[in-house]
Amino acid sequence: MRKLFGVCGLGLIVAMAIVVNSSGNVSAQEFTYTPQFNSKNELMLPRNHIWREWVYSGAIVTPNSLKDGAAPFPEFHSVWGEPGAYAYYKKTGKFPEGTGIAKELGLVGSTEAVSGNGFFMGKLQGFEITIKSKKLYPNEPGNWAYYTFGHHAEPYNKSAKKMPAEACNACHESTAADDFVFTQYYPFLAAAKPK
Ligand code: HEC
Repeated sequence: MRKLFGVCGLGLIVAMAIVVNSSGNVSAQEFTYTPQFNSKNELMLPRNHIWREWVYSGAIVTPNSLKDGAAPFPEFHSVWGEPGAYAYYKKTGKFPEGTGIAKELGLVGSTEAVSGNGFFMGKLQGFEITIKSKKLYPNEPGNWAYYTFGHHAEPYNKSAKKMPAEACNACHESTAADDFVFTQYYPFLAAAKPK
C-alpha cells in the first residue's frame, strides 16, 4: 500500500510521502520545502538557497563555445531534487505530489587548471525550479509548473510568475524520459529508480 497525502491552504502546500518498506514498517518522509507565494500568486525564491542542500541529480554543460558563442541556457546546469520527493521516487519510481526539482546555472570560468584543460564552473548565472502538484496546478500539463528567477548573477529575482505551458511544459512533455523530467541526463536520479 502506498499513499501520498497533501494538504493545501493559504498558498502553502504541505506534503508527506508515506511508504511501506519491505519489512512492512511504515516510514514517513516529510518534504523539506513548501512552496510560498506572494499576493500576486508568484512563487517566492526558495529561502537560503535551500535547493543547494537537496539531492544532487546530475550536471549538464552547454558551453557557449559549442553554440556559436551564445548558448540559450547559461553554460553549467546543476540539478537537485527535493529530498522527500527523492525518497519517494526511490521507493516507487514516481514523482509525488509536491515534488520540487531545482536547476542552477553557472558560466564557464577558467578553461585551464592544474589538472589540465577543461571547463571549470565560474560565476553563478540563474535559477529555475519546477514543481509538481495536482492541487496547485490542476490545469498544467502533467501538473508540473515551471518558474525562472532570471538568467543572471545573484541576486536572483525575489519572485517568479508561472511560465506558460507552451514555453516550458511542451518541450519537457515531448522529450524528457520520465514524467516531464530529463532523467536521461541525470545519472544519479536514474540510478535511484527501482528496477
Ligand atoms: C527545448 C526544450 C526545453 C524547453 C523549451 C525548456 N526546457 Fe527545461 N530542460 C530541458 C532539458 C534538455 C533539460 C535537461 C537538463 C538541462 O539541459 O539543463 C531541462 C531541465 C529543466 C529543469 C530541471 C528538471 C527537469 O525537469 O529535468 C528545470 C527546472 C527546467 N528545465 C526549467 C525550465 C523552464 C523554467 C522552462 C521554460 C522557461 C524550460 N525548462 C523550458 C529542455 C527544455
